[in-house]
Amino acid sequence: MATTAAPALTFTRVPHPAPAAAEVRAQVLANPGFGTKFSDHMVSIDWTEAEGWHNAQILPYGPIALDPAAAVLHYAQEIFEGLKAYRLADGGIALFRPEANAARFNASARRLAMAEIPEALFVEAVEQLVLADRDWFPTVEGGSLYLRPFMFASEAFLGVRPAKTYRFMVIASPAGNYFKSGSPAVSIWVSDYTRAAPGGTGAAKCGGNYAASLVPTAEAFARGHDQVLFLDAAEHKWIEELGGMNLFFAFDDGSILTPPLSGTILPGITRESLIALAREEGLTVREERYSLDQWRADAASGKLVETFACGTAAVVTPVGKVADHNGEFVIGSGGPGQLTQKLRQRLVAIQRGEAADSHGWVKQIA
Ligand code: PLP
Ligand code: COI
Repeated sequence: MATTAAPALTFTRVPHPAPAAAEVRAQVLANPGFGTKFSDHMVSIDWTEAEGWHNAQILPYGPIALDPAAAVLHYAQEIFEGLKAYRLADGGIALFRPEANAARFNASARRLAMAEIPEALFVEAVEQLVLADRDWFPTVEGGSLYLRPFMFASEAFLGVRPAKTYRFMVIASPAGNYFKSGSPAVSIWVSDYTRAAPGGTGAAKCGGNYAASLVPTAEAFARGHDQVLFLDAAEHKWIEELGGMNLFFAFDDGSILTPPLSGTILPGITRESLIALAREEGLTVREERYSLDQWRADAASGKLVETFACGTAAVVTPVGKVADHNGEFVIGSGGPGQLTQKLRQRLVAIQRGEAADSHGWVKQIA
């Protein structure tokens, strides 16, 4: 359902009548964790067939009223994005590749039969919220303001068809490390469940994919692991991705490999950025299928030297240990490898404006 190019919308502003007290905010910002605390405001924009996108608002953060028959509550017609704003050394503020998130959001919208939002409006909504809540940047090393744009079917109707009304929202959450274990490398459980099948919604960032990953994720946690890994649905052999991150494998010949965008994994923006950075470093990057059996064998022979997970929330996180019903294996030394650290540093330096941005990825907004 494509929308016609919308004329620029004016955002109505309703400032928070009682924003968080400075001391309360300072406490949050000194120890933000991930995804539990939210800034003072939120963005809300409505879409109807008759009016298109309208009613753009910056509101006090808080509960929203929803009809109990709203289609999202029954058929899960919902999509979301995740991106970060960074405080730069000179006090400025930058977003990392927000247009890429906007484009992926619309790809998800098409797969879920939802209205698309003009990319410029998506980016402006994110910018407006960051600027309204610019006092919400964490003060800890590695901190950022995590932005969560999302859209849901708001129409009150129980028939099964694409809804005719949608709401787009953005909320902001000060973020530190995604993994709270504090361990230098994460441990992965290979699930018997599958996340996505060919022809399904695996490449879309829709809430339903994550709902389906919760039992496998809980199982991974119960077994003492940090994340769940999914294999392909057809052969249960090929590595796809983690519950919320893409994966890379580094070999002793200097090449790296990541599973191809086959339609069943999320096309990660961090993944795409790292492929570009790795090629600039002179590495050979292969987007090829890689099996769990081969991974285990290569880890044992020493051919595989590093594995890392990547995503907006997790940035670049080394994988130290892998387990399934056949037992466990360790990657390299079990800790962060050199290449993982190098690529992480390269990416983070660009995101924070500390290294040249030759790709035009960084959008400074203040
Ligand atoms: N794969 C899944 C399932 C995710 O949820 C995410 C996070 O957004 C990613 C991969 C990484 O995507 P990105 O790098 O765009 O954050
Ligand atoms: C992200 O990295 O932005 C994600 O969405 C991953 C997870 C928090 C769902």
